Amino acid sequence: MNNRYQEVTASLQSEPKIWLVTGCAGFIGSNLLETLLQMGQKVVGLDNFSTGHQYNLDEVQRTVGAQRWENFTFHEGDVRNLDDCAKVVAGVDYVLHQAALGSVPRSLQDPITTNSVNVSGFLNMLVAARDAKVQSFVYAASSSTYGDLEALPKVEEHIGRPLSPYAVTKYVNELYADVFTRSYGFGSIGLRYFNVFGKRQDPNGAYAAVIPKWVAAMIRGEDVIVNGDGETSRDFCFIENVVQANILAALAQPEGVNQVYNVAFNARTSLNELFEYLAKALGNNGIVYDKQPVYSDFRAGDVRHSQADISKAKKLLGYEPMHNIVQGLEVSMPWYTQFLR
Ligand SMILES: NC(=O)c1ccc[n+]([C@@H]2O[C@H](COP(=O)([O-])OP(=O)(O)OC[C@H]3O[C@@H](n4cnc5c(N)ncnc54)[C@H](O)[C@@H]3O)[C@@H](O)[C@H]2O)c1
Repeated sequence: MNNRYQEVTASLQSEPKIWLVTGCAGFIGSNLLETLLQMGQKVVGLDNFSTGHQYNLDEVQRTVGAQRWENFTFHEGDVRNLDDCAKVVAGVDYVLHQAALGSVPRSLQDPITTNSVNVSGFLNMLVAARDAKVQSFVYAASSSTYGDLEALPKVEEHIGRPLSPYAVTKYVNELYADVFTRSYGFGSIGLRYFNVFGKRQDPNGAYAAVIPKWVAAMIRGEDVIVNGDGETSRDFCFIENVVQANILAALAQPEGVNQVYNVAFNARTSLNELFEYLAKALGNNGIVYDKQPVYSDFRAGDVRHSQADISKAKKLLGYEPMHNIVQGLEVSMPWYTQFLR
């Protein structure tokens, strides 16, 4: 564990805080919830179960045990409703705002709903958190904000034109956060996540992310469909790195606030490489997949290559990702094989 993270977790354990995690029944939110409860924190959660699941919360409850679970208060509600936002943020120290509709294809299919959750819902949370005078506000931004900019690695100051309605919404979050700093002196931190993966990421439905979708297909002996030629690349980021970034951001020093940061590993993995890694990791867990991938058309709205420069988060937050893609898959595979069969 790196020095800053060690320092921050030790101080939280000796003096527990109250956290709000929106989207706590989803993939990233439920992992944040689990770690915070393990660290003895009090957590308030908000979710409307649109893409999240009660079984994610049940799994966290089983993992942390009855005593720590008592530190969790759940509210079923919607970020599009300002009253719900105001209710959950009252008395909270730190906000980790994760609730949103993810997925580029979903936003192409239904830009209106994506916009209302990701933009109006975000604005509601900002207003509620500002009015409640929380100590910090960290929100899920996205690597999709780099849009059509081809230069690699991506550095925070240079972005291109958005390639999807989803990318627009995530960029608008950053603009609102910035304007709230200048207009109201309300500080926040945006974390531009790059292709996060790990336990509890939903493998089902039309908008599933590539890793859980492929692992589920491989476990079931089905075809693995590759969009394009397989040379599309991503900076896949293991969930535990993302949890670390959120906790560090919530307790950032003043010079680290009112910023956006890339949260990734700083490596580039092609889809063809990913396929190999997954087949190998499954093999290590006793599951043999001997089919070849099936190549199909490129997907609209997808960027071709992605890799993050993470030096800003390292420098200003003390972020040190602990797992590369292969290590992250190794940790995740027992969960996948148990839950996706
Ligand atoms: N997973 C990734 O690779 C990735 C990459 C970049 C950014 N992000 C962002 O990270 C955040 C979390 O993503 P995730 O992968 O955990 O997705 P997820 O779908 O698993 O979780 C999102 C959660 O938000 C909840 N939610 C959605 N609309 C809501 C609403 N109107 N009110 C209350 N709750 C609502 C959902 O029910 C779900 O539990 C999102 O903001 C997403 O845009 C994720």
